[in-house]
Amino acid sequence: MEKVVSLAKRRGFIFPGSEIYGGYQGFWDYGPAGVELKNNVKREWWKAMVYAREDVVGVDAAIIMNPIVWENSGHLKALVDPLVECKVCHKRFRADNEEVIKKHEESHDEKDIWTEAKTFNLMTEVLLGTTEPKEKSYLRGEITQGVFVNFKNVVDSTRIKIPFGIGQIGKAFRNEITPGNLTFRSREFEQMELEYFVKPDEKDSEKTFEEFKEIRINWYKDLGMDSKKLHFHDHEPEKRAHYAKYATDIEYEAPFGWSEMEGIHHRGDFDLGNHGLKYHDNLTNEEYTPWVIETSGGVDRAALFFLIDSYREDGERVYLKLDPRIAPYKVAVFPLLANKPELLEKARGIYKELKKDLVVTWDDRGNIGKRYFAQDEIGTPWCVTVDFQTLNDSTVTVRDRDTGKQERINIDKLSEYFQNKLR
Ligand code: GAP
Repeated sequence: MEKVVSLAKRRGFIFPGSEIYGGYQGFWDYGPAGVELKNNVKREWWKAMVYAREDVVGVDAAIIMNPIVWENSGHLKALVDPLVECKVCHKRFRADNEEVIKKHEESHDEKDIWTEAKTFNLMTEVLLGTTEPKEKSYLRGEITQGVFVNFKNVVDSTRIKIPFGIGQIGKAFRNEITPGNLTFRSREFEQMELEYFVKPDEKDSEKTFEEFKEIRINWYKDLGMDSKKLHFHDHEPEKRAHYAKYATDIEYEAPFGWSEMEGIHHRGDFDLGNHGLKYHDNLTNEEYTPWVIETSGGVDRAALFFLIDSYREDGERVYLKLDPRIAPYKVAVFPLLANKPELLEKARGIYKELKKDLVVTWDDRGNIGKRYFAQDEIGTPWCVTVDFQTLNDSTVTVRDRDTGKQERINIDKLSEYFQNKLR
């Protein structure tokens, strides 16, 4: 884990939030490589869960909502974790985080240090308006409620009919008691969710639930995540969220143990029911409260686990074996020597041309070995080098990140060559 954390900082994936002021617990910033990785994860999700399906549309709801939403959704009562305080040093921890609790007991060399556990609400309050007292609202604790409150708007403004889904990606905020493991548990994070509305029917909804479990776990596998490190973990009734009839997590085997990456939830009619929303079937004239099957993935957790999963060491060489679809840059272009104007000019031309269709990076620092080393650590699948032969025959070398093999490709064929590989 330390090696991935160090690479993430060194190569511009993840920086501590507000670092020049000592950081801010539970907040992280994404650097130039990180923002590309995260955007690619979101783009692949949207392609698979919205564009590839006829029965799904998207929304982008506001982060701050009328506070009544959070009363009716149950979050003000139920988005809670058990909190204990250490009687010796008065630090506060999540009572169910056994690893952290044990470590803290060891630091005081005794076990009998805890107060009674009390419930702690994770909703983040915000104050709005110009007159005192200011109006209290909340940063959304899940992006989901923005979909439910727009259920009727979406039905009325589109031709969509049940069964159908609404997809959304966006930021959520939780005042986590013990953030940690890099971005794994943050106070600000992003979710990618599908709320899929079905007719209220035990058997059919269970079938849909099972189908979405497979769709979602296969999405991670298709993007290269090691299938041996992925499994489902069903929630026992007492661990289920307040809205869930039943629920399962897709977990990844991280260096810190099996950890939740995405939740698949059967939310029944809990949410639409609480918001007093119904569906009217114009064909049959039936009116009912649809049930909801939800797939709720964490963008930051997916990005973190793609980083961890792709980390490889091969002797001295460190590389990220990221699927090219999610790699921050698809191609890096170098002139063999930075001080030869004819090589520089040729390489700049190729760089600018490739940039029209692909996310491409440029490097002319140090020697070629150092540039390969840097691109390997960022996970760039292909490096293009312009050398003296290029000036004679218009070919360049293309080096493959995973095999280290090089082949010569004609400049005119380069764009097509990469497009084919990315298909
Ligand atoms: N709408 C349902 C919902 O929010 P959840 O299981 O609480 O369900 C879904 O969260 C996903 O959001 C999790 O599987 C995880 O990937 C991500 N997530 C939740 N809390 C997080 C946090 N504090 N930091 C980073 N990601 C988080």
